[in-house]
Amino acid sequence: MGERVVIIGTGVMGCAVIKGLLAQDPSRAAAIVAVDIDHKKLAEVQRQFGVGISSSTVEAVAGADLVVLAVKPWQVSAVLTDLAKAWPRHCLLVSIAAGVRIASLEAFLPDGALVVRAMPNTPATIGAGITALAGGSNVQPSHLDRAKAVLSSLGEVVTVSEAELDAVTGLSGSGPAYVYLFIEALIDAGVREGLARPVARQLAVETVLGAAKLVKESEAHPAILKDAVTTPGGTTIAGLAALEQGGFRGLIFNAVRQATQVSRALGKGGEK
Ligand SMILES: NC(=O)c1ccc[n+]([C@@H]2O[C@H](COP(=O)([O-])OP(=O)(O)OC[C@H]3O[C@@H](n4cnc5c(N)ncnc54)[C@H](OP(=O)(O)O)[C@@H]3O)[C@@H](O)[C@H]2O)c1
Repeated sequence: MGERVVIIGTGVMGCAVIKGLLAQDPSRAAAIVAVDIDHKKLAEVQRQFGVGISSSTVEAVAGADLVVLAVKPWQVSAVLTDLAKAWPRHCLLVSIAAGVRIASLEAFLPDGALVVRAMPNTPATIGAGITALAGGSNVQPSHLDRAKAVLSSLGEVVTVSEAELDAVTGLSGSGPAYVYLFIEALIDAGVREGLARPVARQLAVETVLGAAKLVKESEAHPAILKDAVTTPGGTTIAGLAALEQGGFRGLIFNAVRQATQVSRALGKGGEK
């Protein structure tokens, strides 16, 4: 049996981790324990995924190698206060609670505790997320590798410094919502030009998906791909000119900055 993984909090993200781990290796169910204060949710998790369940964080963590903390930020202190005395020395804590700093997480646990802080995004729920992680003061590269192995169940994983996690939140954490807005606007614009809504939706979604795939797979700078489809005096340059006139790039810069600043403020001021 591989690492014994405990997932605390079986909401959207906790379930995404369980689903992703089982998609990677279905035989892993016996080594996963889910914990939640909601008994109904736990029963449903057991029925759906066939993993172990427990309503006691202390009991579950006693046998754990790695704990994924997936409760809301303001629920973290209650969970970790309970766990402080029961925390096994070798156990690695991987917290995905937005805005809760590594120093705060470490302060709850015994000296030398292994802590990784991570920031996933919602496409994680279908295994297409991107998660950035940062290691705590006692974490070695081998611990980061263990955290990466578990978080890769949600999609891609990158390592950053903790200071960069606010910008990560502003870009990839909040980013899906920016893209949803862009897709919705494309659909409405297509409808305005006379397309049926389902057709406009299919065109908009596949355009965003295909363009993202091409950027990823070609590894070309996006500007090169843009130049390649921009004929002098043509349709695309006319559309791009309209976006530039509306300050498209500036708006994106500003959106990421605003979201980053809110993330910084939340981290400084404690959790909501
Ligand atoms: N969703 C996202 O897009 C996203 C992205 C990045 C990071 N995150 C982070 O991921 C974390 C989880 O988010 P989520 O959307 O999955 O939250 P969620 O759906 O509310 O799930 C949290 C679960 O933990 C349970 N819980 C609360 N206190 C507990 C305790 N003491 N012991 C065990 N379980 C407890 C909650 O039960 P109750 O419902 O009864 O309180 C709930 O079932 C958050 O910290 C969030 O910041 C989320």
